Amino acid sequence: MKKIEQSDLYGKHLICTQDWTKHELDLVLDLAGRMKRERYAYASVLQHKTFFMFFYNPSVRTRQSFEVAATELGGHAQFLEPKSMRLKTEKTAGETVEDAAQVMSRYAHGLGIRILEDKVSEYGQGERLLREYAKWSSIPVISMAHDTFHPCQGLADVMGWSEWFHKGPQYPPDWKTLNGKKLLIAWGHGALARSWCSVQEAMLIGSRYGMDVTVANPEGYNLDPQVLKWTEENCNENEAQFETTNHLTKGYEGAHVVYSRNWMSSEAYQNGELLKQQEIEKALKYPDWICDSKKMSLTNNAIFTHPMPIDRGHEVSDDVASGPRSCIYDVAENRLHVQKAIMALTMGGF
Ligand code: CP
Repeated sequence: MKKIEQSDLYGKHLICTQDWTKHELDLVLDLAGRMKRERYAYASVLQHKTFFMFFYNPSVRTRQSFEVAATELGGHAQFLEPKSMRLKTEKTAGETVEDAAQVMSRYAHGLGIRILEDKVSEYGQGERLLREYAKWSSIPVISMAHDTFHPCQGLADVMGWSEWFHKGPQYPPDWKTLNGKKLLIAWGHGALARSWCSVQEAMLIGSRYGMDVTVANPEGYNLDPQVLKWTEENCNENEAQFETTNHLTKGYEGAHVVYSRNWMSSEAYQNGELLKQQEIEKALKYPDWICDSKKMSLTNNAIFTHPMPIDRGHEVSDDVASGPRSCIYDVAENRLHVQKAIMALTMGGF
């Protein structure tokens, strides 16, 4: 098999980590680890280059970390939002993706897009939009979270977990430490009716790195069957275990990483509309679905992880989210380092 050089990633789209080989993901994580330790040593990698950040939805971490990433690499990140761009939609006339993507490719060197559950009329529409931009763009299209996947978050997750299982966040991570660890993705009740993107990405990338994966949720909250299937296939390839359960606590037993997060039900869209209020009311009927210290005591001294923002008191109790085994801020920090690595490799020809 041909050995992939770092420069082979130049111009490559990143819509889901499952699209990239394990070796390509290793390159990102290795570079992210070096960039974390020598934060200001890569100051001209994106000199004169611009990253367009096209946000349909708001953000704290993604926008700020991409802007900082571009600055630290000597480039520029430019904020765009659809309301200022006269784009064609299902309901209004305007510029097509084909035209917008080709023109944007003449200006910038990378294009990030965020489009989440409330800006689409059915699950998967955001994924199709990103792939349509990727089809017409001659610059790399990078998901900044869309309805289906969140690749930058997934990379930051595995970087953080492997740091914790090795020597700690201040030391270089060792991806091999993830092998054989049990990842529990547990549904949490809450008032946000969140999209499936972060948990689905975590399942996929965790299973690529040899983790056992358990997904626990009440009936009616199953995730995308195709993503569950890919996760199971990844687990099989790595001789790891994959299971789903509707049991509240069983998945906690023996877990090394607990990822408790709310997500919308599989009935969230009806007739082209997201029934957000109905979803919230339904989810709040499951108050027992919260990650708390009692459930964490069933684990194998698990770390608690979450992509943030956290719905404290619903998805997780305060004592767990702010406790000594919480890696949330390390993972959030790692968004910066993995995104610098992604930009350097796909836009900088590093
Ligand atoms: N985790 C994450 O993507 O955070 P933001 O929504 O704040 O960007």
